[in-house]
Amino acid sequence: MILSVNIDHIATLRNARGGKEPDPVVAASIAMLSGADGITLHLREDRRHVNDRDLRLLREVVNTELNLEMAATEEMLAIALSVKPDLVTIVPEKRQELTTEGGMDLSTVDEFLLKTLKALQGQGIPVSIFINPEIKDVEAAHRMGFDMIEIHTGFYADSIGKRRDKEHIRILEAVRTGNDLGLKTNAGHGLNYFNVTNIAAIETIRGLYIGHSIMSRAILVGIKQAVKDMKILIKDAGRGLK
Ligand code: PXP
Repeated sequence: MILSVNIDHIATLRNARGGKEPDPVVAASIAMLSGADGITLHLREDRRHVNDRDLRLLREVVNTELNLEMAATEEMLAIALSVKPDLVTIVPEKRQELTTEGGMDLSTVDEFLLKTLKALQGQGIPVSIFINPEIKDVEAAHRMGFDMIEIHTGFYADSIGKRRDKEHIRILEAVRTGNDLGLKTNAGHGLNYFNVTNIAAIETIRGLYIGHSIMSRAILVGIKQAVKDMKILIKDAGRGLK
């Protein structure tokens, strides 16, 4: 199971003073040296954290999987086609949200989403889509022809007790459906050092996409330690050590 580290929060800190530090490109390099199997960034329409320069340089330095999260828009499609990340993950985007709040709504046919998918795949770029842990959404993603899905784990992460158990089951069922349909299945959002084990124990998940918790810990103990701590939890979960 791979761990892709999202470096958006480093850019948020940099942008707070409008300067050059801390540089998300340096952070990505340290994360890779510390065992990250991939680097994720979300280039938003409003460029509130990472920007075009970061994406360009990350494309140069990332030698693991560079995953570009983006909304399906004309502008982002053109950028993705020119930068050619190793993976594109389509996410919904609302201007006012603090972070991505839910998976993509696949209940209606979105012609531009399909155009984006085909254009990227036509250039050999695999495409994933961020969806809620709903069997109907997994089936819709498969029908549309996505290479991968990323199951939204935020509802699980935000709940406690019986509610969390239910959310965990929803994730298990969505992952199972994805696997049965032959979709590579990832998971992410809200995962941290205290809740990752249940998800990392699902052996058929291809990769975990984690940002906030790793960068929060990194501020206190350093990126190297924070990435290593997360890698150990993921590895041990796979061995059934909880
Ligand atoms: N996956 C997707 C699609 C996301 O939008 C985000 C947040 O940027 C993450 C994973 C990572 O979430 P978190 O920062 O809560 O770990």
